[in-house]
Amino acid sequence: MKTVSGFSKLTKLEKINFLVENYLQSSSKNSETIKSFWHDDAEAQRIFDDFSENTITNFYAPYGVVPNFLLNDKIYCVPMVIEESSVVAACAKSAKFWQDRGGFKAKIIDTEKVGQVHFIWKGESEKLFSFFNETAKPKILEYVKPLVQNMEKRGGGLKDIELRDHTDKEDGYYQVWATFETCDAMGANFINSVLESIGKSLRDQVFESELFVGTEKELLVVMAILSNYTPNCRVQAWVECPVKELEDSGLEMSAELFVEKFQRAVRIAHIDVNRATTHNKGIFNGIDAVILATGNDFRAIEACGHTYAAKDGQYKSLTHCEVKDGMFKFWIDIPLALGTVGGLTALHPMAKISLDMLGRPGAKELMMIVAASGLAQNFGALRSLVTSGIQKGHMKMHLINILNQLEATEEEREVVKREFENQVVSFQGVRATLAKLRNLQ
Ligand code: MEV
Repeated sequence: MKTVSGFSKLTKLEKINFLVENYLQSSSKNSETIKSFWHDDAEAQRIFDDFSENTITNFYAPYGVVPNFLLNDKIYCVPMVIEESSVVAACAKSAKFWQDRGGFKAKIIDTEKVGQVHFIWKGESEKLFSFFNETAKPKILEYVKPLVQNMEKRGGGLKDIELRDHTDKEDGYYQVWATFETCDAMGANFINSVLESIGKSLRDQVFESELFVGTEKELLVVMAILSNYTPNCRVQAWVECPVKELEDSGLEMSAELFVEKFQRAVRIAHIDVNRATTHNKGIFNGIDAVILATGNDFRAIEACGHTYAAKDGQYKSLTHCEVKDGMFKFWIDIPLALGTVGGLTALHPMAKISLDMLGRPGAKELMMIVAASGLAQNFGALRSLVTSGIQKGHMKMHLINILNQLEATEEEREVVKREFENQVVSFQGVRATLAKLRNLQ
């Protein structure tokens, strides 16, 4: 394949031409396909182009909604962006199920964000600590004032900084550990700018101080960056009701047996890492879909969630289940550092629509909505797994995807759907049925 220099400087059309000539010769329609996904409105397209680099087109994903989502006694219509079939349906089914049983509840545990300045310094640790606490810290706080003023006006800011000694793990390795409150913003840019200033101020103060001599004057800032692990920016969401109220014809078993199997399923995800991974994947099906719809950073949320799931030394379920005195309780405990102002939330037209649909929530309210969506998703998946099995629902959606792929007509769809109502769906099976139908016509 041909290499290219100055690719980013090419126009969009030149980029597409280069790709079509060098990488995309599979079909003469490739260029047209790429362009067919451009937005009709050039200004809207420009906004999308500017989100990233070397943009040549857009990659569509389905935008679905879950209505009647009762959370903290308020009804929401939850937007979800996800390409996987059954996720929205499972969430909607859970929402409906819990709507009649008190709905979802959620509460914020805390909203603290963190960042670190990682640095190397060789010298007497105690000397550095007393310098940091008595001299450097107040000066650093003064130095970053212009950067934090605006956030302070909104009720947030830099909460504290402390020096941490990690020299037992790495020669000369220390951190400035900083905690932040960023209100309704995710706050990544704010945190990183403040951290870089903290690093610079500390390095300069050490260099200029008469307390230090020789190599003690050299403080090497390795990096200054927020941590996506935010265990203290956390939310809990739960559902609960008397076991007997779980009775539902869709379960096809008694409420008691359902609860027994459900509880075991959650327990298994606490003791078996293989199951825990799939279990939590299902939770993130729900969480990521809302995160994407609201213009938040799903990679940050996933990274944090998985670290939190392993906080006890073994990767475990993020959800928990308990049955006590005849009451069934199912809950999620998860860190979610989200924003409802700034970043993509302000730029992506569909993120704005999503936030409008949710009633323009603040970050805390969004944290609760997202956690409850993850819980709803997990409830839906476990409910299917311990009753009918997951394939029944999945296959219905899978069939639609196969029919789309094979370009089935409306009439063909109806016939095939009827044919596969009580049959295992497979690509070959559907293709054979369609072929038979088409030969008959
Ligand atoms: C599929 O995307 C997610 C599930 O596998 C989750 C689970 O097994 O709990 C259904």
